[in-house]
Amino acid sequence: MDKLKLRSTIEAARASIPEEERHAASVQIRESLLDQPWVQMAGLVACYWSIGTEPATHGLVFALWKHGTTVILPVLRDDDDLDWAVYDGPDTLAPGRFGIMEPVDTRRGVDTIRTAALVIVPALAVDRSTGIRLGRGGGSYDRALARVGPNVPTVALLHEGELLDGVPAEPHDLPVRYAATPGGIVRTAPHLP
Ligand SMILES: Nc1ncnc2c1ncn2[C@@H]1O[C@H](COP(=O)(O)OP(=O)(O)OP(=O)(O)O)[C@@H](O)[C@H]1O
Ligand SMILES: [Mg+2]
Repeated sequence: MDKLKLRSTIEAARASIPEEERHAASVQIRESLLDQPWVQMAGLVACYWSIGTEPATHGLVFALWKHGTTVILPVLRDDDDLDWAVYDGPDTLAPGRFGIMEPVDTRRGVDTIRTAALVIVPALAVDRSTGIRLGRGGGSYDRALARVGPNVPTVALLHEGELLDGVPAEPHDLPVRYAATPGGIVRTAPHLP
């Protein structure tokens, strides 16, 4: 299956999940992440502000921030690369390109993600054995993940059934080390440290 087809299959499946179930999934993902020592101990976390039927990250971002973690969120550039700005509470976001909420704080530059101790990214699917992720097609997260050091945990958030045996990939597609699903956190990519 090619990327376009798989994206539309998964988008359709996500749209068919009842609202309450999507909410419950987001809570399970948030709680299992917050239970991890490597999440609790990360001083700077790169995350994203979820949209539509994605597993919701709003509660996760808020909880991390309340805990004292510095959370950076992407600011989508005109060239589809990701700049980063610090989240400073629910009142500090404003709609950016495509209406996605972004921090109004100063843009810290595309290399800011290099300083994160944990990187949480969106995905439509992840390959369970290689960790290769399928995104929405901007290549934004492939560019961002290319700047993340090899020892930094990377996590994609998925709904049930989106961890697959095989995901269409091109040479620029980069893996994540974990997939966080409603059923728990799964280690992918055993070849990564
Ligand atoms: N490092 C990069 N630099 C420039 N362009 C890139 C880079 N990585 C990917 N792209 C471009 O982005 C486009 C979309 O890539 P791809 O289909 O992998 O998106 P995606 O992984 O689904 O999206 P995203 O990473 O935003 O979630 C491709 O045309 C690709 O050439
Ligand atoms: Mg990609």
